[in-house]
Amino acid sequence: MNQRQMIWLFFTLALFVHSPIANGQGYVFLGDLITFIINFTRIQSSIFPLYPDFEESDDHYDFIVIGSGPSGTVLANRLTTNPKVRVLLLENGEEASAITDIPILAGALGPTKYNYGYRTQPQPGFCRGCTKKSIAWEHGNALGGSSIINYMLYVRGNRRDYDRWADLGNPGWSYDDLLPYFIKVEDSHVAKGEPGYRGTGGYLTVNDVKWHTKLRDVYVEACQELGYKYVDYNGKEQIGVSNIQATTRSGLRCSAEKSYLRPVRNRSNLKIKTQSKVTKILIDPNTKVAYGVEYYHKNKPYNAFATKEVLCSAGALNSPQVLMLSGIGPRDQLEPLDIPVIKELPVGKKMYDHATFPAIIYQFNESIAINTIAELANPLTYLEFPFGDGILTSPGGVEAVTYVKVNISTDPDPLYPDIELLMVGGSLASDFGTIFRKMFNVPPLIFNKIFKPLIGKFVYQVTPILLHPKSYGSIQLKSKSPFDPPLFFANYFDHPEDIKIFIAGIREFQRINTAPSFARYNTKLVTTPIPGCETETFDTDEYWECGLRTIIGSYYHQVATCKMGPSDDIEAVVDNELRVYGIKNLRVVDTSVIPIPPSSHNVAPAYVIGEKAADLIKKTWNI
Ligand SMILES: Cc1cc2nc3c(=O)[nH]c(=O)nc-3n(C[C@H](O)[C@H](O)[C@H](O)COP(=O)(O)OP(=O)(O)OC[C@H]3O[C@@H](n4cnc5c(N)ncnc54)[C@H](O)[C@@H]3O)c2cc1C
Ligand SMILES: *[C@@H]1O[C@H](CO)[C@@H](O)[C@H](O)[C@H]1NC(C)=O
Ligand SMILES: *[C@@H]1O[C@H](CO)[C@@H](O)[C@H](O)[C@H]1NC(C)=O
Ligand SMILES: *[C@@H]1O[C@H](CO)[C@@H](O)[C@H](O)[C@H]1NC(C)=O
Ligand SMILES: *[C@@H]1O[C@H](CO)[C@@H](O)[C@H](O)[C@H]1NC(C)=O
Repeated sequence: MNQRQMIWLFFTLALFVHSPIANGQGYVFLGDLITFIINFTRIQSSIFPLYPDFEESDDHYDFIVIGSGPSGTVLANRLTTNPKVRVLLLENGEEASAITDIPILAGALGPTKYNYGYRTQPQPGFCRGCTKKSIAWEHGNALGGSSIINYMLYVRGNRRDYDRWADLGNPGWSYDDLLPYFIKVEDSHVAKGEPGYRGTGGYLTVNDVKWHTKLRDVYVEACQELGYKYVDYNGKEQIGVSNIQATTRSGLRCSAEKSYLRPVRNRSNLKIKTQSKVTKILIDPNTKVAYGVEYYHKNKPYNAFATKEVLCSAGALNSPQVLMLSGIGPRDQLEPLDIPVIKELPVGKKMYDHATFPAIIYQFNESIAINTIAELANPLTYLEFPFGDGILTSPGGVEAVTYVKVNISTDPDPLYPDIELLMVGGSLASDFGTIFRKMFNVPPLIFNKIFKPLIGKFVYQVTPILLHPKSYGSIQLKSKSPFDPPLFFANYFDHPEDIKIFIAGIREFQRINTAPSFARYNTKLVTTPIPGCETETFDTDEYWECGLRTIIGSYYHQVATCKMGPSDDIEAVVDNELRVYGIKNLRVVDTSVIPIPPSSHNVAPAYVIGEKAADLIKKTWNI
């Protein structure tokens, strides 16, 4: 056991000893306490910083990378393999503390300083029962981006996702083009990995999750009884059922920082500056050449200059913001805010996301799901943790996944799934409402009505995800100040088909619960109506539509805000080499370029976009 593992062990023990959880009281207090501890713990980040602050000696670089999410860290790593190439990586957030490495705490990172704390704008079609009628959109604000707070689920998506990107006029982005990068990225230890599809020796470690409930096996068996094949969903076929694969290493989070940055942080040609917010890309208004950035480090303004390119990897919510602040965006939005337009482009005009529904719950008659109190009281929980086992290593309790083609699908391809069912080893009641309730955007009123009575009962849920929504929203600037968060219009369920496909996914989950494996546990749907939907007859399509429009969660997979497309695509912001149309020496390299929502969780494509872009850039400059 190394020093850092001892610190985690100590932390976890201390948490239990001081927690009033054992007598079932004070869970709200406990939730706040966890947030408080995470907020104020600075183990590693200030006592032993891995990335010490430095004084600027030279402000000229070959490349400046804005943002250190999965895409940005790959760029920083790959572009500096040549010692002559000088790169500056600027990140708004801080280096994370080691607490963020504990996988089970994934859901606890939302209320902390590692999240920007964004909210969507209230809109009539969804979130009618949410706090402030809007959804809290978590987004990582740390060295490593959202990979510091995410759920670590590793899902590449479907071959057809990428083939469709190519079909939309983006040569070089088909599945066959990208598969070598998916293989290059990973160091897979997945037991049932599909030969020919999985990589070893890459920077990013991907693992099966050792610890699991008995429920997981029941669920996987139930799906198989209904005809789902057990698949490596990151292999040849995606439709089927599988245990979850996670970006963890030795039972700890394997973030973009840990995988791609930490091993190369000493390269003398790579400068990494945290707490540095880029407020503007410097562009010559006449020649339209990007030549640097303006940024604030600890409240002081600086400039840095790029002799080759500026690479914007600020993520799908902030890359459009940075572009618009720099004069690249829709004229009708920039001019009223007094931002001189350098290039008119549809930045932020489109924004898709993966929505989920947190309130379909099944109850059974034996203790086969997560039993939090028993796990916390079990010494094995702490003894096994340093060896990569025990509940602390579970990625937020997610255990298995089913990819579903619904029988009312409007997509003709039988191998392209519509819905993902993410099976959790328990429910929002498993942690007494301390943590996961917030991640899934369930307000206290609704939690108390539906979930509180289930505390201590044997229940579980899946969170269904609509993989290919037709509805899309947008991102706009609120003002010309870079310190104002943008306005987010999520627009979920604007397209009527989305509700229908979503409900078909709920129906399929219901069918899974009738399989013989579940019948053995007398599995029954929990029938407490969602507050606001009591007038609908429970379990009708109308009831579920009401439920979906009342509460909703997100998996935070926003895409298309700086869409990639051919020059005749009026929605396109970047071309197939990720170059911003009409501006020289500027690319967007992150999930904002993804043109249509893939059947993935977006970390995997984010790394691959970074890898592909690094090769394109190296080719351009012959480096
Ligand atoms: C709570 C949560 C759970 C998730 N769970 C999963 C999961 O289980 N599996 C999965 O695959 N995906 C998951 N995701 C999504 C996944 O993490 C993201 O899709 C992925 O991180 C996107 O990578 P990116 O490179 O596009 O940028 P991001 O990760 O968004 O990183 C962008 C970085 O840029 C920085 N930045 C922004 N603006 C500026 C600025 N002006 N100046 C300097 N720096 C700036 C940000 O601080 C951030 O560090 C989750 C996301 C969240 C929020
Ligand atoms: C944690 O930090 C966030 C962001 O700085 C803040 O909004 C929140 O109130 C803090 N919570 C606690 C309990 O310290
Ligand atoms: C980087 O440098 C630090 C301090 O000099 C050293 O402790 C560390 O081992 C080095 N890391 C790598 C990956 O070389
Ligand atoms: C579709 O499947 C659901 C169960 O998943 C079933 O209830 C429904 O009757 C089926 N509809 C059609 C048209 O086959
Ligand atoms: C659970 O229900 C099943 C099916 O009705 C029954 O066979 C089993 O004995 C029950 N288990 C318990 C512990 O009551």
